[in-house]
Amino acid sequence: MYLPLLWQVVLAAAWVVSATTPTPTLSKRRNAPTRFVTTQDGQFKFNGSDLDFVGTNAYWLSSLNTDEDIDFTLGNMSANGIRVSIPENGTWFQLISNGTLEINNGTNGLQKLDTVVRLAEKHGLFLLLSLTNNWNPRPLFENSTISIQARDVTPGTNNSLPRGTLSNDYGGMDVYVRQLGTNTTKAHDDFFQDQTIIDAFLNYTTQVVSRYVESPAVFGWELANDPRCNSSIPSTPSCNPQVITRWHSTVAAHVKTIDPNHLVSSGNQGFLCTGCPKLFPRVPPPQTSATPSRRRAVVPKPLTKRKILEDRKAAFKRTRNAKKRTGGTSGGIRIRGRWMSTETRRQDDQGIGPAFDGSQGIDSEDIINIPQIGFGTFQLFPDQNVYGPDDPNLPAFNNTVEQGIQWIRAHAALGALFGKPVTLNGFGLVTQANAPFFVPFNSTQAPFGPDAAPAPTPTQQPFGVTDAQRDDAYTQWLQAGLQSGLQGMLQYQWSQDNLTAAVGTVVSPTVTGPGTVPTVTGIGVSPNDGYSIQGVGQQQVVDTIRQAAQAFGSDALL
Ligand SMILES: *[C@@H]1O[C@H](CO)[C@@H](O)[C@H](O)[C@H]1NC(C)=O
Ligand SMILES: *[C@@H]1O[C@H](CO)[C@@H](O)[C@H](O)[C@H]1NC(C)=O
Ligand SMILES: *[C@@H]1O[C@H](CO)[C@@H](O)[C@H](O)[C@H]1NC(C)=O
Ligand SMILES: *[C@@H]1O[C@H](CO)[C@@H](O)[C@H](O)[C@H]1NC(C)=O
Ligand SMILES: *[C@@H]1O[C@H](CO)[C@@H](O)[C@H](O)[C@H]1NC(C)=O
Ligand SMILES: *[C@@H]1O[C@H](CO)[C@@H](O)[C@H](O)[C@H]1NC(C)=O
Ligand SMILES: *[C@@H]1O[C@H](CO)[C@@H](O)[C@H](O)[C@H]1NC(C)=O
Ligand SMILES: *[C@@H]1O[C@H](CO)[C@@H](O)[C@H](O)[C@H]1NC(C)=O
Ligand SMILES: *[C@@H]1O[C@H](CO)[C@@H](O)[C@H](O)[C@H]1NC(C)=O
Ligand SMILES: *[C@@H]1O[C@H](CO)[C@@H](O)[C@H](O)[C@H]1NC(C)=O
Ligand SMILES: *[C@@H]1O[C@H](CO)[C@@H](O)[C@H](O)[C@H]1NC(C)=O
Ligand SMILES: *[C@@H]1O[C@H](CO)[C@@H](O)[C@H](O)[C@H]1NC(C)=O
Repeated sequence: MYLPLLWQVVLAAAWVVSATTPTPTLSKRRNAPTRFVTTQDGQFKFNGSDLDFVGTNAYWLSSLNTDEDIDFTLGNMSANGIRVSIPENGTWFQLISNGTLEINNGTNGLQKLDTVVRLAEKHGLFLLLSLTNNWNPRPLFENSTISIQARDVTPGTNNSLPRGTLSNDYGGMDVYVRQLGTNTTKAHDDFFQDQTIIDAFLNYTTQVVSRYVESPAVFGWELANDPRCNSSIPSTPSCNPQVITRWHSTVAAHVKTIDPNHLVSSGNQGFLCTGCPKLFPRVPPPQTSATPSRRRAVVPKPLTKRKILEDRKAAFKRTRNAKKRTGGTSGGIRIRGRWMSTETRRQDDQGIGPAFDGSQGIDSEDIINIPQIGFGTFQLFPDQNVYGPDDPNLPAFNNTVEQGIQWIRAHAALGALFGKPVTLNGFGLVTQANAPFFVPFNSTQAPFGPDAAPAPTPTQQPFGVTDAQRDDAYTQWLQAGLQSGLQGMLQYQWSQDNLTAAVGTVVSPTVTGPGTVPTVTGIGVSPNDGYSIQGVGQQQVVDTIRQAAQAFGSDALL
């Protein structure tokens, strides 16, 4: 079977906006200027100075139809996370067919990525390049032998619209599993455990990574978008956080041998497992050399189940007392609906919750301590994940904001504990205006789209926050990130209009539903999977990001 696709890149180009003035103590030990981003004492360094960034993400960039569009978008500047799709005329980087791999280094292959990298250099942007994607729910073609159903692409049905989401046929781990897995029963974790697949992925990694070893535009490598045990193909019971940590260790070491110039990161969503054994246990740092980073005054404590539960209890007590003082009403009546993919939606308040109990198959604490991992990563998408129990004394929106702030602080503390920078690689809230476009990360359907089934729970409608709430939440999260010592934050996702439309690509003139909406024949907008800022308060979001960037001490290029 010919499966004409493979790959998914999340290229997050940040405008790296800040080169803050080093403190006197730091300037003494300033590095000689380097061409690449490095880390020192838990801080990103570039060209002899500290580096922090605020940016955004636009995964569709390298599948644009013309170089001018890429130039225009990069020049317009939004930072970009790219997803490479393989539509009919689109870009593809690797073909896995009948058990063999073929790298596409032609003009619709890696040369397209070359263009993105070259133009990023031209515009002074950094790119964070992701090597694969966890999600790929359904292939275009059915295979009854291995019980894999094809995605429904029948015109007029729920799945007919090109939503442009991460989950739609952008290749990824499950394509390797389907095509190369040696077991007859295909399992998602074959990607992490089957030596044939590991070898194939390392081979591919070699070819892509070696291409950009000398590029100053590459901020670093991301091993995968959202690696974890579950995906469209179930995992075997043997999949657990240690399996995925071990995979990270193997691949990170491999990338470092090919490209010693650039940092390597995970790309995982930041899920933790407080009770898991560690492959890379923490060695307590010497007490004398407290981290000199300017925003990290407090020596962090390890994250334990007991501490998390105690902190929550104390926070609930504070809000309860505050509520009593102010006379009761929690203010705000609208219940924000949340799309939830699992039964773990409602946690027993005594439990530690799915973000901390290892149930996602990821222990980002173990991963950040892998020697070749240069910095920690996490994400914040409250519409799709549960980050803590709701505080009964707070309105729904405040719970969303507050849980995000606690999540940010927990990860900043983890970075401080291990002496590595941490970046929030994606954060976003679905607004009411965007609800019809929203496609959950491992789905191909828009649950609130015009072609969706009637909402099962009408009280939760309209889904999403208001634009003003989104701006409020983004501002509070960016502030929390700044204050707690995160060194990078990327809003998800950028959008761009005035792009050249072409049949069969992500900017298509033939599509009339949510996804890609052309404005004029031949002109289209970038895909929207529910987090785009196109037409829904774009300027406010841009302003919020710019202000945060300025707070980092420099001008944003917006
Ligand atoms: C279905 O999968 C099996 C097992 O991997 C493979 O041998 C067969 O060629 C596949 N069939 C098609 C139509 O792709
Ligand atoms: C590095 O710093 C030097 C000295 O401040 C400056 O002249 C140069 O433009 C910087 N290079 C880059 C790539 O920022
Ligand atoms: C639209 O895109 C074209 C080609 O990239 C560019 O020349 C033109 O300036 C853009 N128009 C606007 C209004 O931004
Ligand atoms: C950036 O894109 C927006 C939206 O398409 C457009 O309004 C704006 O003019 C562009 N800015 C530049 C500098 O091209
Ligand atoms: C793009 O795809 C369409 C539909 O398959 C085809 O007619 C057209 O020739 C292709 N264009 C290019 C440039 O490959
Ligand atoms: C797949 O590979 C096998 C063995 O290499 C070969 O016999 C077969 O013809 C190939 N099938 C296709 C469709 O290329
Ligand atoms: C490695 O990649 C090369 C070039 O695409 C290909 O020819 C070779 O078969 C690959 N090797 C393996 C083991 O996948
Ligand atoms: C593409 O790969 C082939 C085989 O490895 C090589 O001969 C060719 O020079 C490459 N072309 C480009 C443009 O990189
Ligand atoms: C193959 O499947 C068996 C049974 O599910 C499992 O125990 C084994 O780990 C799998 N092997 C690989 C390489 O995935
Ligand atoms: C999405 O992921 C969840 C687990 O996080 C899983 O239970 C669900 O079946 C997945 N849905 C699809 C469509 O893959
Ligand atoms: C809830 O959030 C809103 C908006 O940020 C804020 O004005 C209000 O004080 C918060 N309410 C509580 C009880 O914290
Ligand atoms: C979409 O799916 C729902 C059921 O999930 C169904 O009620 C609805 O009719 C479908 N819409 C279309 C256009 O097929």
